Amino acid sequence: MLPTTPLMTSEFSDLQVFMAERRQRVDDAIRQSLPSRHSPSARLTEAMAYAALGGGKRIRPLLVYAACELAGGSAEQADVAAAAIELLHTYSLVHDDLPAMDDDDLRRGRATCHRAYDEATAILAGDTLHTLAFELLASAGNYSPIQRVELIQTLCQAAGAEGMAAGQMQDMQAERQLLTLAALEEMHYLKTGRLITAALKMGITASGCNDVSLASAVEEYGDRIGLAFQIQDDILDVVGCADALGKSSGADEKLGKSTFPGLIGLEASRQRARQLCDQACAAISDRAPPNSPLLTLARYIIERQH
Ligand code: IPE
Ligand code: IPE
Ligand code: MG
Ligand code: MG
Ligand code: MG
Repeated sequence: MLPTTPLMTSEFSDLQVFMAERRQRVDDAIRQSLPSRHSPSARLTEAMAYAALGGGKRIRPLLVYAACELAGGSAEQADVAAAAIELLHTYSLVHDDLPAMDDDDLRRGRATCHRAYDEATAILAGDTLHTLAFELLASAGNYSPIQRVELIQTLCQAAGAEGMAAGQMQDMQAERQLLTLAALEEMHYLKTGRLITAALKMGITASGCNDVSLASAVEEYGDRIGLAFQIQDDILDVVGCADALGKSSGADEKLGKSTFPGLIGLEASRQRARQLCDQACAAISDRAPPNSPLLTLARYIIERQH
């Protein structure tokens, strides 16, 4: 296995172009999908738009596009799946920031949804971003009925009681507890990894490709890079600053969260993230060309500073 090397300037500029173009696409798809201000509650639709259009790295959509394109599909085929998973992720952030959960004031460089509006509105905006994600998969775009069922199933399973929500529950229960490394990895995999892997699976489904071995290689990549993503999130909470992160730093320690740096230290956390990145890239090395955005995105995920 080749050891992780930092992103070269040329790879980085290709990735920048890929990211800028696909972010624009998914932002357009999200904007078009949001209910109009003339809906029965203008306040609710405004809060949904505030949360959904307020920045964010759009990593999960980028993974949908990259997987769809690797499987021979077009960016257009990926648009709806990319918008749906980002709406679902945005709901998870709105609820994660609530006083009953992480009680955060800052998200994506501005006031969290419940600070900009109020708690009840933020809860409902989260609920409706969640249902909108499934509505899109059920009825928007040009997917076949079988693709729609597969997309919905993948997203439900990743977000529900055996996925992200379970991880969030474990995260709350693990405050001020000493977890084993295996328990911490499971929690991180559930709360963050499951949606990352779902993004990749959804990209393959959206492409219409039925290559089972490609799907399983890409899923293995997702499982590794998803865990690495949350490890880097934990690291940035320690070493980052709020201005760069767009969210508060030092929040995990304040709440007594179970994190990688808290359990094994910063350097071992960085090493584990690098190892997972190498394993992720190795899982797709036979299938992805050297310039595949999936390979550069893996490194971006562990090198990002916000
Ligand atoms: C933050 O996710 C929550 C985690 C699962 C770690 P992101 O770091 O993808 O947040 P945005 O979407 O870019 O704001
Ligand atoms: C959140 O993890 C994971 C989600 C499912 C939203 P964190 O609580 O660490 O995310 P941040 O640091 O607030 O973005
Ligand atoms: Mg949290
Ligand atoms: Mg949080
Ligand atoms: Mg965090």
